[in-house]
Amino acid sequence: MADIEQLARDARAELEAATTVAELDAAKVRHLGKSGPLVLLLGDIRNLPPEDRGHVGKEGNVARRQLEEYVAARGAELADAELDAQVARDVVDMTLPARAVPQGTLHLLTQTRRLLEDIFLGMGYAVIDAPEVESEWYGFSALNTPVGHPARNPTDTFYIEGHDANAGANDDALILRTQTSTAQLRTMQLTKPPLYVVHPGRVYRRDDIDATHSDMFHQMEALAVDEGLTLAHLKGTMEQFLGTLFGGKLEIRLRTHFFPFTEPSVEADVQCFNCMGSGRAPEGDAQGEGASDKCRVCRGEGWIEIMGAGMVDPNVFEAVGYDADRVSGFAFGIGIDRVAMLRHDFPDLRHLFQNDLRFVRQFPGRP
Ligand code: DAH
Repeated sequence: MADIEQLARDARAELEAATTVAELDAAKVRHLGKSGPLVLLLGDIRNLPPEDRGHVGKEGNVARRQLEEYVAARGAELADAELDAQVARDVVDMTLPARAVPQGTLHLLTQTRRLLEDIFLGMGYAVIDAPEVESEWYGFSALNTPVGHPARNPTDTFYIEGHDANAGANDDALILRTQTSTAQLRTMQLTKPPLYVVHPGRVYRRDDIDATHSDMFHQMEALAVDEGLTLAHLKGTMEQFLGTLFGGKLEIRLRTHFFPFTEPSVEADVQCFNCMGSGRAPEGDAQGEGASDKCRVCRGEGWIEIMGAGMVDPNVFEAVGYDADRVSGFAFGIGIDRVAMLRHDFPDLRHLFQNDLRFVRQFPGRP
């Protein structure tokens, strides 16, 4: 006959060796489950000699109850300990500051575009949109740019389809526009005069990329059409615009020039905002190695070439069905990228497109 004490000792030793709830459960199944030695012995009691049945039953049941009590108490202990360990692991410190959520900022070009838009909105202009893919008609013909003009050459302009090398022109051919002046036509076709609009957008040219050239860059076009507009209105508008943009009252200088879609045409220079026109580096101005005492923004010129402009050519009005005898208008185009470079004093256009975070992060613009 099995020794009850021995069975109980074996069971107890294994239960005590368990260090986790799972181990304890396993040991409990082995010793107190249906096929545990002690359980089997108690279940088999009727096959024992009658004189043994009494004390085996009694001692066996006592031993079993003690083991069950041990399992219950130890199980609770182990479960508590495991819970404590888990809580310690999962601890949340409510006093820690929240983790910062990284937030994007506006790219310098977007900031600059919005600044330009704001200035014109303040002067009563509307901001309009226009396509980047245009027909040769919008790109050149309707802008009074004749067949044979170098800009119409596929070495200067990206043709998408339909370029006719023999005829030299196909008004339906598709190009990437080379200037935002195309927006003038689009607006006039949709709106009756008077109108005062600006259009910022991308333009494309077949240029080799260097510090001051890119095959894609940004311009903003302004167009005003009304009765009685003159070059004086153009100049006054420029003074207001450029003064707000660069800060202060700055002189404007108009030089005669030629653009096919304006007559007369001018190039406009603005007095250098860094040296105020003197051409000499202002006192305390940061100068690079080997620098002269010339102003680095205008390179000693005193003036900054800033935009092309002019009075809208009657042929352009005719192309969109405006009456050139009744209305007149002025227009100009300014490089947005160049404005950003001037205002923030960096010499390489490519910084704007390479998206090197070391550059981008220097101009955090709030959305
Ligand atoms: N479209 C010209 C360019 O890209 C700039 C320009 C000149 C725009 C005269 C105008 C203008 O509106 O009147 O060089």
